[in-house]
Amino acid sequence: MNATATAYPNIALIKYWGKQDENLILPATPSLSLTLDVFATTTTVRLVDHEFDTVVLNGDETDGPFAERVVRFLDIVRAQSRNSARAQVITRNSGPTAAGLASSSSGFAALALAASTAFGMELSSKDLSRLARRGSGSACRSIYPGLSSWHPGSDETSHGEHIASTGLDLSMVIVMVNAASKSISSRTAMRFTTETSPYYAAWVDSSQTDMQRALDAIASADLPALGLLVERNALKMHASMLAADPPIVYLEPLSLELVRFAGSLRREGIDVFATMDAGPNVKLLCSSQDAGIVAEQISKSFDIETIVARSGPGVYLDDSAVKS
Ligand code: PMV
Repeated sequence: MNATATAYPNIALIKYWGKQDENLILPATPSLSLTLDVFATTTTVRLVDHEFDTVVLNGDETDGPFAERVVRFLDIVRAQSRNSARAQVITRNSGPTAAGLASSSSGFAALALAASTAFGMELSSKDLSRLARRGSGSACRSIYPGLSSWHPGSDETSHGEHIASTGLDLSMVIVMVNAASKSISSRTAMRFTTETSPYYAAWVDSSQTDMQRALDAIASADLPALGLLVERNALKMHASMLAADPPIVYLEPLSLELVRFAGSLRREGIDVFATMDAGPNVKLLCSSQDAGIVAEQISKSFDIETIVARSGPGVYLDDSAVKS
């Protein structure tokens, strides 16, 4: 009747960009991500005796597009659980919302666990991941700790999967280029890319190879091989968007300067690689051992906030958390 869950955002190393099915959120490309240990989302779902759902985001009751997405997601939970109750959803992001820092991945992973529990379902990780996917594709990977993959497939077979650690101790240095919410949602931007970008087919095609090579690099704990693929995969995704009509430009001049800066650190012998999502913020992938040096180098050269994130936990029920 009442459940609270916490989840952490994941940042894709090999990106999901483009859908095969918009309604079921089935991806066109395989993806691979690292769940972080910063910017958690904690969500409480309480079944209520009202005629409609209510949504409280970061302390304020909201009825905008975010609330509509939450209500559509609750409709899926109601259908699966055969329980027509309405709910109050109280959700709090400890990081910036909708700034290309994967708040939707932690948000819908936490909502999937809190809502399925409150509506009386006990789902396996696989089914929880399938459910989270319906809220936001990337959320299906935040069910799991550390590294996870997500493959295209059917509603039944497309879900996140945990990748066992192979000796790589990865961190990300998050560089806050701009914490404001993005001007165009990833959902809309993906649709424009899929429908209009002449580079979209090439992007989908090359994602298969990138994914296989990235999995091989993880299996052999080869950070330089993984990192070069990660950086190039992100740039290919942005290239596909830049060629869309209308063009989608999430990156800012400073984002590109940071990509260059990662290259110059590599020339000095530090294995560090840039990745960017649906927003201008840059995440620098490196070993946990080098994360402090990377953050220090950024602070020396740029007047900008950095946050060091390590590998974080999968979603969990969190009954100790504040519920209002
Ligand atoms: O799950 P969405 O709709 O927020 O899309 C996420 C898209 C990227 O963050 C750009 C890439 C990814 O795989 O997370």
